[in-house]
Amino acid sequence: MLNFSRARSQPRAARSMSLGGMDYVDPKKKGNLLGKVFLVAALTALCILVIKRSPSFTTPSPFSVHEPGVTHVLVTGGAGYIGSHATLRLLKESYRVTIVDNLSRGNLGAVRVLQSLFPQPGRLQFIHADLGDAKSVDKIFSENKFDAVMHFAAVAYVGESTLYPLKYYHNITSNTLLVLESMAKYNVKTFIYSSTCATYGEPEKMPITEETEQKPINPYGKAKKMAEDIILDFSKNSKMAVMILRYFNVIGSDPEGRLGEAPRPELREHGRISGACFDAARGIMPGLKVYQYFHFYFWLK
Ligand SMILES: NC(=O)c1ccc[n+]([C@@H]2O[C@H](COP(=O)([O-])OP(=O)(O)OC[C@H]3O[C@@H](n4cnc5c(N)ncnc54)[C@H](O)[C@@H]3O)[C@@H](O)[C@H]2O)c1
Repeated sequence: MLNFSRARSQPRAARSMSLGGMDYVDPKKKGNLLGKVFLVAALTALCILVIKRSPSFTTPSPFSVHEPGVTHVLVTGGAGYIGSHATLRLLKESYRVTIVDNLSRGNLGAVRVLQSLFPQPGRLQFIHADLGDAKSVDKIFSENKFDAVMHFAAVAYVGESTLYPLKYYHNITSNTLLVLESMAKYNVKTFIYSSTCATYGEPEKMPITEETEQKPINPYGKAKKMAEDIILDFSKNSKMAVMILRYFNVIGSDPEGRLGEAPRPELREHGRISGACFDAARGIMPGLKVYQYFHFYFWLK
């Protein structure tokens, strides 16, 4: 006969024991464990609540909302030569600016200068991203409310384009298509595209006018011309206002010397008129003739 009273009088020494190879957990300990889990969950929920109620969580970023009277411009390639000057001008004129740049060619120094000149919240934000990455581009447009896009980002060396044509078609034509698609998806209605005189090729008649036929002769010019065609075709059946700039050999810098053109040393061999002028002036190369002169900064006025 089993002695139940004896069994009950045994001291409760072990809290868990093995029953046929299975762990047996004392119900009291289980209760303790559940209590701890509950406590942790409650504390986590409390933390989430506190964070959500903190002003930085509840107040949306000024870049993510349309603010009456404020025009928010996305400047792609804003760490580069022309894009940084355009950004300076926009900020001076009280625009809100988001720069997107992958820093493959531009420099962070220019962005820092701009940030130091306009440190107030909601004036300038910098997003380090590659416009060839469709997911990033979509995220940027979904998280920010832009009124306009100025698309400067591009690889932009004629000589280099003949060596790496695919890079140019991808970076210029394909990326412009991505930007345009996101603009259409997120209802951004103004597009300013930085194209180039290289889309004209070698015109038979000078001077070049708006009517001059565009016959590009290198991948850089062709990629830009294709991007232009995409933009113009799209604009025919959309309410998007588009402007295409075809400028020639931009030179000059912020009159106060805060920004300038700072091409990477390895790109100098691909040659731009501006760099060549300085090299000629410094005697690094023999003299050269300059046919056109265009001051972008003053043009922006
Ligand atoms: N400089 C000129 O004389 C000239 C003349 C005509 C047209 N343009 C056009 O103007 C624009 C700007 O030229 P720039 O002289 O300032 O060149 P730049 O190289 O100084 O600036 C281009 C910027 O675009 C960025 N960029 C390149 N690919 C990118 C990508 N996939 N994603 C994000 N950022 C990217 C680079 O990092 C760089 O900061 C270009 O579209 C160029 O074709 C320039």
